[in-house]
Amino acid sequence: MNLLEVNDLRKTYSSGFFSKKETEVLTGVDLVLKQNETVAIVGKSGCGKSTMAKILAFIIEKTSGQIIYDGIDTSKIEKADKKAIHKQIQMIFQNPQTSLNPRNKIKFSLLEPIKIHNMPLNNDEYKVQCELLERVRLRDEVLERYPHELSGGQLQRICLARVFSLNPKIIIADEMISMLDVSVGASILNILKEYQSETGAGVLFVSHDLSVIKEIADRAYIMLNGEVVEEGTIKALFDNAIHPYSKELIENIDVKLTRSATSFSKLHEMANYDSEIRVKSSELKVVSKDHKVRDLEVYRKDIKIL
Ligand SMILES: Nc1ncnc2c1ncn2[C@@H]1O[C@H](COP(=O)(O)OP(=O)(O)O)[C@@H](O)[C@H]1O
Ligand SMILES: [Mg+2]
Repeated sequence: MNLLEVNDLRKTYSSGFFSKKETEVLTGVDLVLKQNETVAIVGKSGCGKSTMAKILAFIIEKTSGQIIYDGIDTSKIEKADKKAIHKQIQMIFQNPQTSLNPRNKIKFSLLEPIKIHNMPLNNDEYKVQCELLERVRLRDEVLERYPHELSGGQLQRICLARVFSLNPKIIIADEMISMLDVSVGASILNILKEYQSETGAGVLFVSHDLSVIKEIADRAYIMLNGEVVEEGTIKALFDNAIHPYSKELIENIDVKLTRSATSFSKLHEMANYDSEIRVKSSELKVVSKDHKVRDLEVYRKDIKIL
């Protein structure tokens, strides 16, 4: 059974005080996450990744669509059962600085989720704190410190430890390592992977960085302007991307790394690429098992390809 199944998810934000302006930022997303699977959501800034992540983590409300968690339609559950399901789906954010209360010592923040969810402590507090720190490879000397006394990498480990303390079945990581050095980010990914192999949790990994996704994900959904334009296993996408936007993203992995003069103009082209167009909706076509793409005929007719 799927751990998470999302059907036709839509989100409209309204802004403006006098004249309400409505912007549809998710225009019908379907997604599946299985146990033990790492699924990436990729796309440039503004395409709706964080909006989707926050809806799936129950932080903001969807406008419409169906979210089925472990076989249960989340719109049909009673209020009392909601909290139990919410506990199973935990989110990690890009900036750990803003995820922790700066006035609280780490020892307090570490146990906060357990206390909020009224979970019993199976040991004395110090022991529980040490167990959690061990999982994220930190020493007990951080307990007496405040967030500003830790590095970004250490803070992100604390955020992971807080998430682990609730034993979630799904972890949604939104640009979790984007603000960190490559080596620090890699060790944090290892810690996340370790939790996954111990618990069989599903990981939804939101990122704009395909080079990281190539390393850690099993499958990916490539998003453009609020919809999925291509989805597939990492192998299918890297060997045989079909949609022009997916191709651009994949080709530009190397470009980003070298940062030559031509690469900057290419990145500039990409920056314009998805802001000016709106892909005409059409069904995702099956390319092969585990690989789907939005209809190219419609796509080519309606927009200018750079
Ligand atoms: N609370 C909000 N109110 C209005 N518009 C929003 C809000 N949050 C995000 N948006 C808009 O929705 C779009 C998608 O944003 P977001 O989901 O953060 O994208 P991503 O994470 O892919 O960069 C953007 O155009 C953004 O400006
Ligand atoms: Mg985002």
